[in-house]
Amino acid sequence: MISNRSEKLFQRAIKVIPGGVNSPVRFFPPYPFFVSSGFGSKIVTADHETYLDYCMGYGSLIFGHSYLPLIESVKTQLDNGTLFCIPSEKEIYLAELMAKIIPCAEKVRLVNTGAEATMTAIRLSRAFTRRKKIIKFNGGYHGAYDYVLVKAGSGAASIPSSEGSFPQISEETLIVQYNDFGELEQTIEKEAENISCLIMEPVLANYGLLIPEKNYLTEIRKITKKYGIVLIFDEVITGFRLSLGGCSEFFGITPDIATFSKSFGSGFPIAALCGKREIMDQLSPSGNVYQASTYAGNPISVTAATTAVESLLKNKNKVYPTIARLCDTLVLGIKDRVKNFADYYTINSIGSLFQLFFTKEKVSSPLDILKSDYKLFESLFWDLLKKNIFIPPSMYETCFISYAHSDEDIEKTIECYSDSLNQHIK
Ligand SMILES: Cc1ncc(COP(=O)(O)O)c(C=O)c1O
Repeated sequence: MISNRSEKLFQRAIKVIPGGVNSPVRFFPPYPFFVSSGFGSKIVTADHETYLDYCMGYGSLIFGHSYLPLIESVKTQLDNGTLFCIPSEKEIYLAELMAKIIPCAEKVRLVNTGAEATMTAIRLSRAFTRRKKIIKFNGGYHGAYDYVLVKAGSGAASIPSSEGSFPQISEETLIVQYNDFGELEQTIEKEAENISCLIMEPVLANYGLLIPEKNYLTEIRKITKKYGIVLIFDEVITGFRLSLGGCSEFFGITPDIATFSKSFGSGFPIAALCGKREIMDQLSPSGNVYQASTYAGNPISVTAATTAVESLLKNKNKVYPTIARLCDTLVLGIKDRVKNFADYYTINSIGSLFQLFFTKEKVSSPLDILKSDYKLFESLFWDLLKKNIFIPPSMYETCFISYAHSDEDIEKTIECYSDSLNQHIK
């Protein structure tokens, strides 16, 4: 359990770091535990406790912690320079790899974070369509900047919009409910001539885990095409995780632009936006849409992403079926052993992602998640932590299984969830 050392570290942290953490979702009351290392499916805390990790860098670590081929390749690069701000062949190779794998990737630009990727994708869409407004989904999270911090998920789920945001900018953001095509259709038909893009997480994984209804994405592709609205798939979580080619490949739908980070860098800070040539070529210096960054395409992150993508490509027939099987086993195992309590919870899962909600009703939109009992979720979180299992500390997040998780890990997790649900959560 969280002990004195974490408490002491938090007291030190809070004096010099706002809220004691460098990203809000990392905090949970009264104070989070502090981590010292991670290997495979496990992390070791500052108090020398070992936890089985289902947060996995919020989905980034598809191979688990400290994946050896990645570490080795980065070590080699460290001896050959860490930043040039001069083009290198490695960047071309990585872009070529992505162009082979990602259905919409005619051109690729590398950036550092998911927020930078989605922000640039939106700017490109505005320039391309000469329209101002954007559509985003209630509960969708695309980064911490003004026009997407409206009804956002993840850590922002508890605030309607961020204080300090420029209201005139967020007013250009139209919000619709996920999995409600009728509402989206009405919104588009009302003012299509003002809407530049629709940005979405095809599988919405920042407000719990929401899975698209049958044909929903197909209908979205059709209507955006009909009205000349740029369709942006934000695949920061799902890219290279749901399948090698992300949601586009998984559901067979090609957006105009797609954004990637997390599993793409598998633990290193890198992101990318890819898209159709005519849209992407508007980027400076070939066009007049400005986007720039000192650390973009830095050799350390490029090396890490190249190794991650090559490893996924080489092992795709093992990695994706294995992590999906482990996830299915976990979900079915819990359902099998928690029958008495069965009418009180729902588990959503897809590929290697899962989340449990304390409502017996189907959970397919953020409105359904609001019916889930948050207090029970907190009890579950603490009870699992006592059993040395770490899941993200919020019902609005998603749990992730990595290729480093073993059958034994899953069996232990089924036991712990079942025990918590059967014994303690009443
Ligand atoms: C779907 C999605 N898009 C964008 C972002 C923003 O990425 P970053 O935190 O790297 O800015 C996140 C972060 O969690 C995300 O989940």
